[in-house]
Amino acid sequence: MIDNHGRKINYLRVSLTDKCNLRCIYCMPEICPKLTEENPPQMKINDVIKIVNGASKLGIEKIRYTGGEPLIVKNIDRLIYETHKQAKIRDIAITTNGIFLEDAIYDLKISGLNKVNISLDTLKNDRYKKITRGGELNKVFKALEKCLSLGLKSVKINTVLLKGINDDEIIDFISLTKKYPIDVRFIELMPLGEGIKYYDKFFMTSKEVLERFPELIRERENEISTAELYKLKDSIGKVGFISPLSCKFCDSCNKIRLTSEGKMKPCLHSDEEIDIMTYLDNEEKLLDKIRYSIMEKPKEHHIEEVHKTNTHRMMFQIGG
Ligand code: 5AD
Ligand code: SF4
Repeated sequence: MIDNHGRKINYLRVSLTDKCNLRCIYCMPEICPKLTEENPPQMKINDVIKIVNGASKLGIEKIRYTGGEPLIVKNIDRLIYETHKQAKIRDIAITTNGIFLEDAIYDLKISGLNKVNISLDTLKNDRYKKITRGGELNKVFKALEKCLSLGLKSVKINTVLLKGINDDEIIDFISLTKKYPIDVRFIELMPLGEGIKYYDKFFMTSKEVLERFPELIRERENEISTAELYKLKDSIGKVGFISPLSCKFCDSCNKIRLTSEGKMKPCLHSDEEIDIMTYLDNEEKLLDKIRYSIMEKPKEHHIEEVHKTNTHRMMFQIGG
């Protein structure tokens, strides 16, 4: 579908759960007292299937399942299988922290998953433990190698830039693209949820990285992407920059989001939410609500001006 600002909206990003097995410092509070098994109520797999089926009728061609951590959701392989049955869906992706991925990836791939993004902010064991509050880095690397051995269509690493915390490792992340056919994408920290606490002290722009590494060569755009792509001369993978603050990409935004509670979010940074859970058994109304969510997409966000997002949600509720 084309929205009110002439953008083709063909991408739905779904947070399957607001729970996570890790507690990354800028994403989740150490203790989340409000998050219990059923508070707030989360979508069930069958709810998601209905919404995805509806969205595909309105021109959604790409689905990303995120969280929190999507791999803690039971029966995610069935969800991927059902998603894959929709002829119009050509890409099914997950964003995961990678801890449970090695064991899960084979079943997910045969169910129809073809793209994996792994969130990884450091390549050092002790630092990984600190940033994630307890995660084991070697599990993530084993998962990465297994994904590559299974020949997924795309494997990417997402790294949030944290000045003074991980910027000494940028070169090591870039060097991974010489060893592996993966994209490493650097993401600017957004002043949202727990990120607000870290923003003033640790925010770093993509531009600063590019100034430090002039050997990165700009790639010609070949698909709509939120990342600006670069490459080292002798690498097999690419280096991307996702810069929602310093270089916003609202003009080419092609996505809508669904929170784990079943609310459509036309824009990550706006507080507008459209509840669709009451329409799951009435396809006509469900399609109307999804259509409305697409039409409600604002032209752009303004977080770069006010350094604050308008959403009251945390990243793990919306889908990172
Ligand atoms: N800014 C940028 N990215 C964030 N993520 C979580 N919080 C933020 C934030 N404030 C990212 C994680 C992971 C995904 C779940 O969302 O690094 O890639
Ligand atoms: Fe979990 Fe990802 Fe948030 Fe870390 S960034 S706490 S892995 S959802």
